[in-house]
Amino acid sequence: MSGIRPTGFLHLGNYFGAIRNYVKMQEDFDCYFMVADLHSLTTHPDTKELKANVHRVLAENIACGLDPDKVALYCQSHVYETAELYLYLNMLAYTGELEKTVTFKEKVRQSPDNVNAGLLTYPVLMSADILLHRAKYVPVGKDQEQHLEFARTYVNRFNHRYGEIFPEPYAFNYNQELVKVPSLDGSGKMSKSENQMATLFLSDEDDVIRKKVMKAKTDGGPTVMNSVKPGYIENVFGLMKLVSAEDVIVKFENDYNNCTIRYGDMKKQLTEDMVNFISPIRGRINNILNDEAYLKGVMEKGAAKATASAKITMQLVREAIGFNY
Ligand code: TRP
Repeated sequence: MSGIRPTGFLHLGNYFGAIRNYVKMQEDFDCYFMVADLHSLTTHPDTKELKANVHRVLAENIACGLDPDKVALYCQSHVYETAELYLYLNMLAYTGELEKTVTFKEKVRQSPDNVNAGLLTYPVLMSADILLHRAKYVPVGKDQEQHLEFARTYVNRFNHRYGEIFPEPYAFNYNQELVKVPSLDGSGKMSKSENQMATLFLSDEDDVIRKKVMKAKTDGGPTVMNSVKPGYIENVFGLMKLVSAEDVIVKFENDYNNCTIRYGDMKKQLTEDMVNFISPIRGRINNILNDEAYLKGVMEKGAAKATASAKITMQLVREAIGFNY
């Protein structure tokens, strides 16, 4: 089970860091992937863009290979049981603990005049999302680890007080290390908010991709055979490893090692391979976005699957708590 915030415009880092994992998981597990639209109200009370954002995030994930027939792909707000479980879990959540959450403190700093209770109990709602399906594996990045810790705490409190119903959920990842996709300016990784010119979005047009890749930071090339690559050159090779063929990579590695590399040629090749990688995805995103009826069908199917699973859990929960009169 995992949740995806509907903040729009996925980039290459999201693809290799998260979505590729989801797409692999759908073959191996019973998966629930949810658009966290309720969570978005904690920071974005203005809902004018909500529908478009939800559509986009669904389209992007489907375009990347998530199959609504294999997984439950749904919106959090369509599964009403979420709100009920959230309420019960709130009684097991201590405000003192929640106030110490790193993400909460960050958001308080960012918007001191909107410190709503929903923001404080963000991890409780996220726990409800997970426990609703009694999920064990949650594919998320490091930034969500503390939230998962809360989910395990509530599982243990619930199980001790009312009976064993929930398994403990843990972060899940196929590769030991999460794939980090370096940004094109030689610093840090690709990100939605940092430098948009250094981040490749799945919806970028070919000429935008070209412009961004050709501006990637390089230098005059090595002058000593087999020297260690500077970080920003390592990054360009790193990007190539994600999208280019093995023999292409070997060629440029060799050129680097014997000091004949021409970064202009390398970036042209990388541009070509990036365009070939991104443009079919972009095409699919746009086709899906143009088909509102299809998206509605996806959400309905997803909500039905998720609700069926949630109903079973909630039956157990109500009985365990003692609402059985
Ligand atoms: N908090 C997650 C994020 O910011 C999104 C999320 C909501 C989530 N509910 C979830 C992730 C349940 C995993 C499981 O990315």
